[in-house]
Amino acid sequence: IPDEAWVRKLLDWFDAGNRIMPWRNTKDPYKRWISEIMLQQTKVETVIPYYEKFMTCFPNIQALAAANEDDVLKQWEGLGYYSRARNLLKAARIMQEEHDGTFPESEKEALKLPGIGPYTAAAVLSMAYDMPLSSVDGNVMRVFSRIYALKENVLEPRAVKLVRTKLESMIPKDRPGDFNESMMELGAVVCLPNNPRCIDCPIQNSCQAKKSGLAQELPIRIKK
Ligand code: ADE
Repeated sequence: IPDEAWVRKLLDWFDAGNRIMPWRNTKDPYKRWISEIMLQQTKVETVIPYYEKFMTCFPNIQALAAANEDDVLKQWEGLGYYSRARNLLKAARIMQEEHDGTFPESEKEALKLPGIGPYTAAAVLSMAYDMPLSSVDGNVMRVFSRIYALKENVLEPRAVKLVRTKLESMIPKDRPGDFNESMMELGAVVCLPNNPRCIDCPIQNSCQAKKSGLAQELPIRIKK
């Protein structure tokens, strides 16, 4: 089965009914950035009301850059991992001062900002600016490991790099952000860590793990 076949099927499935979230269907880099940071350690249902309130208080980079840290932390109260909020404020101020008040349009520049690593940079740049970068988190590693029956330890940075390179070689140039989000969505609702719902999977016929009965066994996670 050629790679393009499962990629298109996955996008069709995503188009047919992905869950409604307030940051989806927008290419505003600020909204994509804030939502990706909130979603890093926190579930979608928890994030939604925080995201809505945050956008009311700080509707854009300018508003956030001008805020005090106490006000930002107050909006974050209950989400945990408060360094995320402190880094958001620091990064907004840098964007305001050094990037004309916008999210940088290059991966190299984005990666210099506090709190923005390879996952977040790729997510925002693909979703907001259509850059062909793959955002690879634990969910995407699990989905990929199963599609290709990958026998690499997904906790090794080497494996993450390999997966990212492979995904970027097949990322649809017309819809890189949707492709990244459809991988996340599949991992969140179908390709679950335990008891994956293979019978509901739009790409089950392209899945090596399903074919060899290994879905439950993958990904391989060996802590060093
Ligand atoms: N988790 C991380 N990013 C996400 C997104 N854009 N949609 C849903 N879940 C996510």
